[in-house]
Amino acid sequence: MKSNQEYISANEDKFLDELFELLRIPSISTDSTKKEDIHKAADFLVRQLENLELTTVKKFETPGNPIVYGEHCPHDDRPTVLIYGHYDVQPSDPDELWDTPAFEPTIKDGLIYARGASDDKGQSFTHLKAVESYVKTGQELPINVKFLLEGEEEIGSPNLVPFLEEHKDLLTCDMVLISDTAMFEEDQPSITYGLRGLAYLEIEVVGPNRDLHSGVYGGAVENPANVLCEIIAQLKDEDGIIQIPGFYDKVKDLTEAEREAYEQLPFDVEEYKETLDIDAVHGEKGYSTLERSSARPSLDVNGIWGGYQGEGAKTVLPSKANAKVSMRLVPDQKPDEINKLFKEYVESLAPDTVKVTVSEHHGGHPVVIDLDFYGLKAGAQAFEDVYEGEVLFSREGGSIPIVADFKRVLGAESILMGFGLTSNAIHSPNENFSIKDFYRGIRTSARFMELLPEYSEKKN
Ligand code: BES
Ligand code: MN
Ligand code: MN
Repeated sequence: MKSNQEYISANEDKFLDELFELLRIPSISTDSTKKEDIHKAADFLVRQLENLELTTVKKFETPGNPIVYGEHCPHDDRPTVLIYGHYDVQPSDPDELWDTPAFEPTIKDGLIYARGASDDKGQSFTHLKAVESYVKTGQELPINVKFLLEGEEEIGSPNLVPFLEEHKDLLTCDMVLISDTAMFEEDQPSITYGLRGLAYLEIEVVGPNRDLHSGVYGGAVENPANVLCEIIAQLKDEDGIIQIPGFYDKVKDLTEAEREAYEQLPFDVEEYKETLDIDAVHGEKGYSTLERSSARPSLDVNGIWGGYQGEGAKTVLPSKANAKVSMRLVPDQKPDEINKLFKEYVESLAPDTVKVTVSEHHGGHPVVIDLDFYGLKAGAQAFEDVYEGEVLFSREGGSIPIVADFKRVLGAESILMGFGLTSNAIHSPNENFSIKDFYRGIRTSARFMELLPEYSEKKN
């Protein structure tokens, strides 16, 4: 009988073919015309789970996209790990900036290019294959597993939160395992122990009842695009400090020890600037780039429009202008409170020459995970065994809002065991994922399952 690590080596090509099948499905959750593909991806995963000989496999319909669930819990006395991932992806546009089509996975220089290759199809698929390596070699799984694969992460998981509340018993677990983050750098195994939260709003400034000739009316009627720019200019000061009253009230300051740990991380700001083709970094005064991008809150315009966007110069005073603004939050900021403060401030900046409305999009709570948690230690050891290097612990700036809900609803800590890289270009053209990390990810997950029972005993 083969060992599971032997099984993984013998089946690398098969795993890659299967992942490619999933990557070919454009399961874009932001696009309502892609419902069929969403179901296709969910059904593909159902078949994958069925092949793992789990005791339960079920596709749960929701008012939105289906949730794929599967479990195999043979042990009374061993930990139960809920494996979370998302099969939905971001849109591929602008498509013309992709070197190869987004939904035709292509290998180049050891990288798989496709939308979702890293975020999150490729990363989450590693755990299915890890379980497969036990099942198909006739071995008992060393732990209990429950798979929870959703199709709405990229739109804020609107149906997963109620699902958690409704199926608390089904989802009971000792921890959640998630691969949907990045390693610190290539060949540097890393566990993410913090994620930022999110507050996302949209500002609309409405002026005259139609677009006006900018010669006939310009100077006499307020221009909503000008007002929008003035409002946005007042959201931060020249030191990068967010000006919304009360915004920082609940921000937990970094301790001296945390700041020291940040300084120890292998980060080269020159290299960072080079990879982004920028001459200088920017951000809140008094903090390093790494602190700014993971442990401090931020505010950014994500999109802004209004007026004439076409070729040439149309002389027009737009009747309205809009901007989408997101804020990344850190403990203990709460998205609802921040939304309220943002609205009050923006409304206070509005002149009476225009109407300003602020509406909310989805949000999420920030998280910081306890570094002493035994599951995290088992995860770190598995990573070290496979990657043959010491694990780094770091916080990241992105958001996976459901992580806070896992803690709140299920009482479960999450292990963020990312196999991606910052260079994976997630959400961007030419998203990619290293084949090597796909395979190492499978091995790390399998090793984690093997190590976890020991760590769970040690903790008692
Ligand atoms: N996997 C990402 C989050 C992420 C990326 C965390 C990199 C850490 C490092 C996730 O799919 C994502 O894109 N989340 C969204 C939030 C969501 C509410 C749309 C984000 O962070 O913008
Ligand atoms: Mn993701
Ligand atoms: Mn994403």
